[in-house]
Amino acid sequence: MPPSTPTILATPRRVALAAALLVLAFVLAATTGWSSPGHAAGPGGPSAGPGGPGQQAHGPLLFGHRGASGYRPEHTLASYDLAIRLGADVIEPDLVSTKDHVLVARHENDITGTTDVSSRPEFADRKATKVIDGAPPVTGWFTEDFTLAELKTLRAKERLPAVRQENSVHDGRYQVPTLQEVIDLAKRESRLTGRTIGLAPETKHPTYFDSIGLSLEEPLVSTLRKNHLDKPKSLVFVQSFEEANLRELHSTFRLKVDLVQLTSGGTTSRPYDHVASGDPETYAQMTTPQGLKEISTYADVLGPDKAQIFPRAAQGRTGAPTALVKDAHHAGLDVVPYTVRAENQFLPAQYRKGTDPNAFGNVFAEFQDLFATGIDGLFTDQVDLAYGAREDFLGYRHGVDNPQAKAS
Ligand code: G3P
Ligand code: CA
Repeated sequence: MPPSTPTILATPRRVALAAALLVLAFVLAATTGWSSPGHAAGPGGPSAGPGGPGQQAHGPLLFGHRGASGYRPEHTLASYDLAIRLGADVIEPDLVSTKDHVLVARHENDITGTTDVSSRPEFADRKATKVIDGAPPVTGWFTEDFTLAELKTLRAKERLPAVRQENSVHDGRYQVPTLQEVIDLAKRESRLTGRTIGLAPETKHPTYFDSIGLSLEEPLVSTLRKNHLDKPKSLVFVQSFEEANLRELHSTFRLKVDLVQLTSGGTTSRPYDHVASGDPETYAQMTTPQGLKEISTYADVLGPDKAQIFPRAAQGRTGAPTALVKDAHHAGLDVVPYTVRAENQFLPAQYRKGTDPNAFGNVFAEFQDLFATGIDGLFTDQVDLAYGAREDFLGYRHGVDNPQAKAS
């Protein structure tokens, strides 16, 4: 270094200051829980142990679908909180907008079936009939007609009380949460558990919300950025069944987190933005090797219906898997299918137990089938069962089959 160059002298005071700053940075990273979960290349990244307290998950990531929706009214803080306690690596808020453009967690903008709105006389005049995404008209109450303050006066209730009667004991106990509240919960739980709790926000009906001046992407991006989550190593997955808004998030907003292209089965279904723009491309075409290659230009993860991996054959049974997981991996995409549910009525026929459609069947077999295809994660309503299945899959099963117990 030339003598004239100003130098920063390493005085004892400066060394102490630098050390203090380093410690502070470390503590901040540890306490926010959002620095680097080892999530380098999609869901397959995290590694270290079976994912117990203080350990990041190893193996396929477990996405708590709408929280722990098998046990609590979906999309409530209680549902997400329970999912985390049951072992979820990632919690999944579906997102819609309020009238005052705040993102809240609901599976759809029609809140008739998941809140007590229909019993609130003060909101009787908000009942409306709307066409959403070209589907037959729906009559009910819609988030975009309520301010956040109004929505907060409502209480959530179980979507499927006939299937999940136990969950309905929680009806009336919880509010509709905002995206920010879900992020706050994930941050707090990351600190408490020592695990990085990921988030998989899904933009619901993005074309529709654009059409009514309540675009979902801007508040989503600004909320992620405000919370310092728009980083490649954040355990954050932004999902959509539509294509155009994922492309926009990738190219215009330059979002750095993983983007998930959701797809559905069937031969004719297609993203609603394709329908709206006249693009004839179907999900079936998007999931061919050529289509997957195209998806990989703007997304990181494929989120297919599990039936696209294990199609239902005669009598609702499944057989050999399709090549979808292999093809998607070949295109550079991770694969996170939806949705494994333990009740008989949602299981392939060969795994049902007894005749009660609401009783749990052999869901462990379905988890194993899916894990064996090489998937990188999955969405499930019963994350505790997925956690046990993943332990089995990884050889961490408690008891005599535990290879660690055998070795010691
Ligand atoms: O986002 C994965 C899965 O949740 C997609 O289905 O309808 O439950 O949002 P849906
Ligand atoms: Ca979803």
